[in-house]
Amino acid sequence: MTGKWTLEELVAGRTVEATFWPNPLEGSEFKFRATHLDGRRAPKVILSNDERIVAGVPCIVKVTTVHKPDRDDRGRIEVEFVTRAPFRIEGVYLDPNVSKKLQVLLQSGLNILLDGPQGCGKTVLARAIADSLGMEFVFFNCGAVVEASDFFVSIQVRASASGAPVTDFIRTDILNALEDAAEHPDKCFLVFLDELNRCQESARNALMPALDSTRRVFHPIENTFIPIPDNVQFIAAVNRGREFSGTFGIDAAQLDRFAPLQMDYPPPKAEIEILARRHPKISGANLDIIVAVADAIRHAADLTGTLSVRATEEACIYLEHELFAEDGKRALPEIMKTSFCGRFPGRWDDVTTDAGAVWSLIRATLGAHKVPLPEA
Ligand SMILES: Nc1ncnc2c1ncn2[C@@H]1O[C@H](COP(=O)(O)OP(=O)(O)O)[C@@H](O)[C@H]1O
Ligand SMILES: [Mg+2]
Repeated sequence: MTGKWTLEELVAGRTVEATFWPNPLEGSEFKFRATHLDGRRAPKVILSNDERIVAGVPCIVKVTTVHKPDRDDRGRIEVEFVTRAPFRIEGVYLDPNVSKKLQVLLQSGLNILLDGPQGCGKTVLARAIADSLGMEFVFFNCGAVVEASDFFVSIQVRASASGAPVTDFIRTDILNALEDAAEHPDKCFLVFLDELNRCQESARNALMPALDSTRRVFHPIENTFIPIPDNVQFIAAVNRGREFSGTFGIDAAQLDRFAPLQMDYPPPKAEIEILARRHPKISGANLDIIVAVADAIRHAADLTGTLSVRATEEACIYLEHELFAEDGKRALPEIMKTSFCGRFPGRWDDVTTDAGAVWSLIRATLGAHKVPLPEA
């Protein structure tokens, strides 16, 4: 539904969804203000003093009173909080079971570990959580972390005016967020530790007190331990495809500090929807074929590595470009040769390698979809 609500529709007792922000009107007796209900503009401002409302976080509210219903230019709609709005993340596919667990974990404040193959949506999900819950998003890639202090400062050496070397400590976004969180208890921070399995084991160990009930870290500039405020939520991600099993770098004690959530690639129907939204020029038939080929590769045994949603997206980017669009689906084999085979070791024309095995799978799946194939 679009357009504006009428006052007749907004009777007392009706429940609607709204997102509130601090009321900008100075001296007002109401702390929170919203302008839309269920995404439609309301005929009067919506005000509330309900302490359970969190600014920026969608919630379900109940209309209690409408003041001055007969005046167009004045009055207000007063509401009270009913519950938090159902968890929904625009544009990101999330398995319904994972979604439910995620909601519980986020409400409990536990550290979360997103565990899934590369390109299955861990980073987009973390970012979307922050957006939809009104949290500040702090992205930190752990791949370059060698020492524990790297989480909090990066050390840079430069020449001073006299030419002597000076060491600068540059705060990382994590340290800035911890300090900011302590100063602003009303703000919430989501610290996303990407590729946690790729940092040095010893550095990861030093991060552990931050993640368990002691919740404190060593501040390498001030030389003292600082507490981690409650308004900081950690979410870490690890890439664990088939190829990582067995060599997975995080030990049991470290893993135990997180509530793990297993993720996987979206099912074909969901992946087609994701790609269709982003690449509306590509026909449904071609999207079906691209995703069917990717699905076949993901389910093939004996391949090292797998194929991410980045790869199907890349195929779409080629296909919609004018240099390829004219050929229609005849362009698919050539596109997949680079975007799909190119992500595996070996060469597409060497059947003894993974890339060659992928090329055979591509040919078989394209053949089944009646796509004209180049000579083998
Ligand atoms: N479940 C998903 N929903 C929406 N987009 C996805 C999903 N999985 C992957 N993508 C898309 O694929 C690309 C890679 O996703 P990303 O979140 O960076 O993967 P990861 O962090 O798991 O390696 C992004 O463009 C992302 O939008
Ligand atoms: Mg990622």
